[in-house]
Amino acid sequence: MKGKLVNVEDYRRLAAKTLPRIIFDFLEGGAEDEKGLVHNRDVFDQWRFTPHRLVDVSERNISTRLFGKNWSAPFAIAPTGFNGALWPGGDIKLAKAAASANIPFILSTASNASIEDVARCAEGEKWFQLYVVQQQLAEQLVMRALNAGYTTLIVTVDVGVNGNRERDRRNQFSLPLKITPSLLMSGCCHPAWSMRFLQNGMPQLANFVSAESGSLEAQAAVMSRQMDAGFNPNSLKRIREMWPHKLLVKGIIRPEDAELCVACGVDGVILSNHGGRQLDGNLSPLETLADVAARIDSPVLADSGFRRGSDIVKALCLGADMVLLGRATLYGLAARGLRGVDEVIALLKSEVDCTLAQIGCPAVDDLSAAYLQRMS
Ligand SMILES: Cc1cc2nc3c(=O)[nH]c(=O)nc-3n(C[C@H](O)[C@H](O)[C@H](O)COP(=O)(O)O)c2cc1C
Repeated sequence: MKGKLVNVEDYRRLAAKTLPRIIFDFLEGGAEDEKGLVHNRDVFDQWRFTPHRLVDVSERNISTRLFGKNWSAPFAIAPTGFNGALWPGGDIKLAKAAASANIPFILSTASNASIEDVARCAEGEKWFQLYVVQQQLAEQLVMRALNAGYTTLIVTVDVGVNGNRERDRRNQFSLPLKITPSLLMSGCCHPAWSMRFLQNGMPQLANFVSAESGSLEAQAAVMSRQMDAGFNPNSLKRIREMWPHKLLVKGIIRPEDAELCVACGVDGVILSNHGGRQLDGNLSPLETLADVAARIDSPVLADSGFRRGSDIVKALCLGADMVLLGRATLYGLAARGLRGVDEVIALLKSEVDCTLAQIGCPAVDDLSAAYLQRMS
């Protein structure tokens, strides 16, 4: 099997075969006409490499340093919700794969394993992503992440309202997952997924299981209807005051918004269009990356559409300090569980390394715009 899986697209195809349609559509889908999804991939072609020759690349280094720590690769696992629907224990499997690869793992607010369980079950450094649903709930989550030893907090700011994901609406995808005739039929066609699902039960939004919000319906309401659309610089400053460690804001596109975040005291920004899941027709982070990196002194991370090592290298050339992987590692998880995530990480590491050699750059930390040319 592994020999047939040579790139992320192969894992995507296997994930599509393994998962019932409703689950695959949740993983894969974007907002409205999904032009943003297509653009997130096509945008990489706007830049081509200009390889440097006669450079000794017999030894190469893909490790990087961020926030005072050495990481074995210039990418991290992005926060994604409902990973337990792809594979039981999905959050912990992703966290374990990240720990063994020595890359950061970011746990979503909408995880199926709790903040505390992930901290207990997986080694390695953990970062926590916060959806500000209601101020009070957000403050509780921040304190829980702090007490559980998370080192970095990421506030996602591109979800004032839920994205209009028409695949999910057509499929009547909802939390909790409703056992509809079409899900049952689809489950019969995907027996391995169904067996795992039956043995492990319905994934819950574990961070919201409490006396006040114990029912799955309440969890769903929390996640789908009560995002704080009024979140503003003062809300961000309040979180800054509560969190003593590194704080990043995720979902930035405009350079002046990045500057505003820094003025509010954050330690870096994550350029992201949420993988095309929120606003269709959004710019890709790649298109503003160089401007943002030139305007702020703090680290700039980027995600949305990264499927190849060469994509990651292009972003690093344009000024990113690190890239986040969303669907890429989820395809690995859905296709083959922990093994699949390990394999996707390994193949992206090897593609980054191969790209470095091909462009004549011995280390990711030496990458710069000099290795790229923008196509007109
Ligand atoms: C299934 C899925 C669930 C996601 N859930 C979250 C989430 O809970 N919090 C968040 O900040 N971003 C979430 N995202 C967005 C990712 O963090 C990331 O921005 C995006 O996946 C990057 O694009 P890519 O999938 O093309 O790599 C999710 C993305 C996917 C695909």
